[in-house]
Amino acid sequence: MARLSFFLLSALSLGFAAAEDLQDCNGARYLPSRYTCYDGKYLCPVYNGVPTLRCGDACYSAGQYSCNNGVLSGLSFTDTSYTLRADNPTAPFDNAPIEACSRAFWIGRGTCAYCPSVVGEYCATFPNDTRLIGSSGMSTSVPGGQMFYIDPTGALGYTGAHSAYYPPGSVFGVTAYKNGDQGEFKYTPGEGWYACPTTADANVLQIFQKLPGITLASNCTGLNILVTEVGGTGAWQYT
Ligand SMILES: *[C@@H]1O[C@H](CO)[C@@H](O)[C@H](O)[C@H]1NC(C)=O
Ligand SMILES: *[C@@H]1O[C@H](CO)[C@@H](O)[C@H](O)[C@H]1NC(C)=O
Repeated sequence: MARLSFFLLSALSLGFAAAEDLQDCNGARYLPSRYTCYDGKYLCPVYNGVPTLRCGDACYSAGQYSCNNGVLSGLSFTDTSYTLRADNPTAPFDNAPIEACSRAFWIGRGTCAYCPSVVGEYCATFPNDTRLIGSSGMSTSVPGGQMFYIDPTGALGYTGAHSAYYPPGSVFGVTAYKNGDQGEFKYTPGEGWYACPTTADANVLQIFQKLPGITLASNCTGLNILVTEVGGTGAWQYT
């Protein structure tokens, strides 16, 4: 049985074999940390600790689709500014905000925002949290705006104020799905988001997308990213 060998392989490579027992789903053996057995016979994978759900004969992510009478339909896209947060119930950073600083995105570093004194009292209207808008915009007021992208190393980054520069080979076009605070932030051509240690501070993790063909450090942890629509502008500019 082809599936069985796949399950055993994942069990061994992740060291779960001793800790977790294989279970039975209508004759197919599976690890509950990797799959959910629906109605005693349908196996759906768990991604980054988040179970996919069953819809008819398909498995789906609730952050990208809805299921009505066994038929999947794609969620619509956000239409206002949104914040990002980490989603991996098995990781210590679950639910942590994902924030912009130094032209990259992080868990545990805080937002780096700036408002010049010439802007005056208007500066106080900015919450200075990290908000994005659409598939490539930072939610700012600075003339010219700022854009976010995925650079060729997989790092999620953003352009500086007053500059259109981004590393050659960067890609744009992340989808932010609208579903209360459960819509996903998804780069469809990629293989998923990862939080990687890149600084001396063990509590600070940088966000990467596993672009096809690139390798990320083995100490990175996979995660889903969820969006919460908030509206309003996040900062005059991100630094
Ligand atoms: C946001 O930061 C600017 C300075 O960059 C400051 O003037 C403003 O008061 C801050 N907003 C809040 C809500 O603290
Ligand atoms: C994570 O892996 C990278 C690449 O192998 C390495 O340079 C870095 O020191 C590692 N960080 C930690 C905290 O283990």
